[in-house]
Amino acid sequence: MHPAAPSPVRPPFGSERRNCLGSGASFGSEWRWAVIVIEKVLARGVASVEVFCDPPDAVLYPGEAQLITRAVDKRRREFRTVRHCARQALRQLGLPPVPVLRGERGEPRWPADVVGSMTHCAGYRAAAVAHSRDFRAVGIDAEPHEPLPAGVLAVIARHEEQEHLRELAAADRATCWDRILFCAKETVYKTWFPLTHRWLGFEDATVTINPGTTDPEQGCFSARLLVAGPTITGHPLIRLDGRWLRNHEFVITTVTLPAERRA
Ligand SMILES: CC(C)(COP(=O)(O)OP(=O)(O)OC[C@H]1O[C@@H](n2cnc3c(N)ncnc32)[C@H](O)[C@@H]1OP(=O)(O)O)[C@@H](O)C(=O)NCCC(=O)NCCS
Repeated sequence: MHPAAPSPVRPPFGSERRNCLGSGASFGSEWRWAVIVIEKVLARGVASVEVFCDPPDAVLYPGEAQLITRAVDKRRREFRTVRHCARQALRQLGLPPVPVLRGERGEPRWPADVVGSMTHCAGYRAAAVAHSRDFRAVGIDAEPHEPLPAGVLAVIARHEEQEHLRELAAADRATCWDRILFCAKETVYKTWFPLTHRWLGFEDATVTINPGTTDPEQGCFSARLLVAGPTITGHPLIRLDGRWLRNHEFVITTVTLPAERRA
């Protein structure tokens, strides 16, 4: 373990983090251990695995290779590694390794009675899974912690969200709030889609980001849905709550929707 790396904290199902030293398939030849821990922003009962490289022992399972026949090498590596993460996370739930294929709109197809989500960006891959008896849906997303490219904010943020970001930036200029908003919205979609099998546009939810009270590098957010959501255990889904975490390199956002939920 890198001397600067924190000791992993183990939730009930555990969570694995892994760097890759000397792997020919890694992002770089150097020892990488970015200090970001997705389990910090996932509910207890969600199993997660994150890596900062492409482990050489990650392999594709039957059916997966056909999904990326025409993909470039970068895409092949993220696809293979994130499925490796997913299988490790399933193992934490006591489930056997299986192919993780894709549904009609790219969503991961999990084994029966499992919900989950996967994400990858340059230098980071992660998967999170849970038993459906505990959670109705899980969404995760990772992004580089840097400002959005010019012009993107106007496309992904509603007017009130842009105003909200200005207020956040006035209080904390070290955090790329625009990127956190984008990441949160993609997480909302990854949570929403498996529940509804419906599109949700960036204009279809308005996100409020809450900075952390004690730690400036993590906080929570809520997404108010502006289109009719599904009815879950007798209640219409009108809001999704999530958490965010960032360091100098990455932003991670998560949403977990408990099986038993309030109105
Ligand atoms: C699907 C989308 C959210 C993926 O996000 P991304 O930042 O581009 O990519 P990430 O690496 O974080 O995630 C990719 C993974 O998301 C998952 N994913 C793809 N489509 C999905 C869907 N419809 N539902 C749930 N998960 C999905 C897959 O596991 C995919 O990995 P894989 O292709 O290796 O299997 C994004 O491309 C998109 O279409 N966004 C528009 C919709 C949106 O965000 N609306 C905002 C509502 S407020």
